[in-house]
Amino acid sequence: IKHIGVFTSGGDSPGMNAALYAISKAAEINNIRLSGIRRGYEGLIDGDFVKLKPNEMQKIVHRGGTVLKTARSSRFLTLEGRKLALNNLLKNKIDALIAIGGDGTFKGLLVFSELCELPFVGIPGTIDNDLAGTDFTLGFDSAVNTAIDNIDKIRDTAESHNRIFLIEVMGRDCGYIAINAGLGVGADAILIPESGQDFVRLLDKIKNYESEDAFIVVVAEGDELGAEITASKIKELNPEVDLRITKLGHVQRGGNPSALDRMLGIRLGAASVTALMNGERNVMAGILDNQLKFTPFDSVVKQHQVNEELYELLKTLNT
Ligand code: F6P
Repeated sequence: IKHIGVFTSGGDSPGMNAALYAISKAAEINNIRLSGIRRGYEGLIDGDFVKLKPNEMQKIVHRGGTVLKTARSSRFLTLEGRKLALNNLLKNKIDALIAIGGDGTFKGLLVFSELCELPFVGIPGTIDNDLAGTDFTLGFDSAVNTAIDNIDKIRDTAESHNRIFLIEVMGRDCGYIAINAGLGVGADAILIPESGQDFVRLLDKIKNYESEDAFIVVVAEGDELGAEITASKIKELNPEVDLRITKLGHVQRGGNPSALDRMLGIRLGAASVTALMNGERNVMAGILDNQLKFTPFDSVVKQHQVNEELYELLKTLNT
């Protein structure tokens, strides 16, 4: 391997820059040229390639977002777009690709592999933690910490006013952020897309709610009912309650990466370069049980399952 191209794609997540730092270091040490591709697949199609200077990369380890910028590309869904991307790779004599992203990014690489014979290695970068093949994705831990930090603040005002708060957290169709943030703040109820029972538990609790305290509900954005409908159902049961909805939104994607996300980025970044040198192709690097593991792309996308033990914990704690 003489020349690696690297890009970040899909929603940015804290820890992506730490991974870029480790990739640039590992490439430099192994005398491999490295090109950064800006704005994910969009930059691949446009030939938007930049040099990543290894001696400047340690300055970005602590920063959220991605210095390479990112995008969701509809052009890469077309064969025409993918042909342009291949052309740019060949023109620049790039002979391997590292992609940092989520589900959509790896699906893109799977389709691209039908056209392009270069080896690809993926790094799981999404706050949603919705990929198989790794215990944690880059950004998940930071996002949960951000959510917890913000919900703690909401609790202060909720307790002062004796209000019910429904707080929507991100995660697309996955309830991981909601479970972890919800348990971490001692929420009264947590609503996740993977279950049908948590709403029933919530209504039971609301029936006995005395309006003399705060009541915190953490709702995953992918939950079947969602915050608004849940709020109206609570109001139907008890029209007197003082209720507010807060959507934490994109604040969860920003901010400095946690220690865990920095280490994850650095471990997986360095591992992805080694993997390409060892002849790996079309696999995602991940950490399972604290061990580095490589999993084929087609086994990581849309394979996530709710962690049964955590889900049981919600029931045990009647949350
Ligand atoms: O995949 C990360 C994520 O933040 C999801 O949690 C959320 O549903 C989605 O991206 C939001 O995407 P966008 O920033 O494109 O609106």
